Amino acid sequence: HKTIIEPFKIKSVEPIYVTTEQQRKEYLKAAKNNPFLLKSDQVIIDFLTDSGTSAMSAEQWAGIMRGDESYAGSKSWERMENAVKHLTGMEFILPTHQGRAAERIIYGHLGGSGKTFISNTHFDTTRANIEFSGAEALDIAISESNDPSLIHPFKGNIDIGRLENLINEKGAENIGAVILTVTNNSGGGQPVSMKNTREVSTICKKNNILLLLDCCRVAENAYFIKHREEGFEDKTYEEIAQEMFALTDGAAMSSKKDALVNMGGFLALRNKELAEACTMLLIITEGFATYGGLSGRDMEALAIGLKEVFDPSYLEYRIKSTAYLGEHLHKMGVPVMMPIGGHAVYIDAKKLYSHIPVNQYPGQALACELYKMAGIRTVEIGSVMFGKYDENGKLIPAPMELVRLAIPRRVYTQSHIEYVIETFDEILKTKDQIKGYKITKEPKFLRHFTAHFEEI
Ligand code: F0G
Repeated sequence: HKTIIEPFKIKSVEPIYVTTEQQRKEYLKAAKNNPFLLKSDQVIIDFLTDSGTSAMSAEQWAGIMRGDESYAGSKSWERMENAVKHLTGMEFILPTHQGRAAERIIYGHLGGSGKTFISNTHFDTTRANIEFSGAEALDIAISESNDPSLIHPFKGNIDIGRLENLINEKGAENIGAVILTVTNNSGGGQPVSMKNTREVSTICKKNNILLLLDCCRVAENAYFIKHREEGFEDKTYEEIAQEMFALTDGAAMSSKKDALVNMGGFLALRNKELAEACTMLLIITEGFATYGGLSGRDMEALAIGLKEVFDPSYLEYRIKSTAYLGEHLHKMGVPVMMPIGGHAVYIDAKKLYSHIPVNQYPGQALACELYKMAGIRTVEIGSVMFGKYDENGKLIPAPMELVRLAIPRRVYTQSHIEYVIETFDEILKTKDQIKGYKITKEPKFLRHFTAHFEEI
């Protein structure tokens, strides 16, 4: 069949409130031109994030009722721990309320001034937790990853030459960890190959450096390996993910992505001393070791979701429906990051609005346009999110100015996607009239969440 159907039926629905363009202009103004500050009922299609926005299955909802809320030794914890051990092959599992809690614990412990962390690309909360500890976070994805239109099967890969140089330059003992983000969210949702993981693992072992997996989209990454990398055709998606974990010393997961839950996360470790130090921090800040920041019912749903996500018909639908949106936009002439990633379509706003300079944030302009035009909420992944200032207060821009259309799992149907595609006809027609934005208020860390903007 040509059409990949959604491999599920809808059992429970949530209304979408349809608004007018006039209303949306007022809502956006009240939200200081920052889509993070909009209310969800002001949004028609919510592509802000694929995190915590999944629709749970009937099985997961059944698990919610079964959830064991005992403070210590809950059965639901046992099921979650077994599911995570089965997938990661790691001995020590620490439950956390979401990904950044796992990051705060592990990078708070490993970080501190003088330490360097190296990644293909640190996600914003990962970078913030590392920098907050006083350490530095360096991104060294392969150079192909910075060219949005270039086709490469594994644009999420780490640059091996640069990794070796950095280890020599900084000294292995000063490297806090190497972190592979799969898929590479901030670099366009692009996958990392098994070959690259193996090479990174060999270098880390040789230098006695910890290798961690930021594994929130590890099932989507496994899909790309099976279909793009030689030797994986006959393996299951779960086996591919297990092989990847086997190459690492630990993993942090925001389970709000590929564990198909609305809240949850974990830290998985092989080393006993490291696990003990992290468990102490877990108990101080998250909760007791058998629930972390989670309810029993959350842990139950997580254990089930972590299995469901590897279902071949789900993963095929997931990756192909994201590609359906991206490839349509590409054919229409919208500059999109190629090839299309796993969880999102990334628009190259620098190219689309080539008349808007980077210090006037072309990505923010596109995010505002999409909302005003059609109620589509997206997020800028460019100089608003990753820009820095030099000593003179001049913007050091991010390497790319992207806008992410992140697709919640099992939530939207094909007609929602057609509506989004139609909106881009209008985006293309009006592109030359769009103006840039300036920031009028911003916090020190993670400014994109709360900054205020004004049209120039
Ligand atoms: N690592 C990656 C690669 C992520 O994409 C995220 C979250 C986190 C860590 C942090 O996890 O939100 O559970 O604390 N990404 C979301 C997103 C927020 O929209 O991409 P968290």
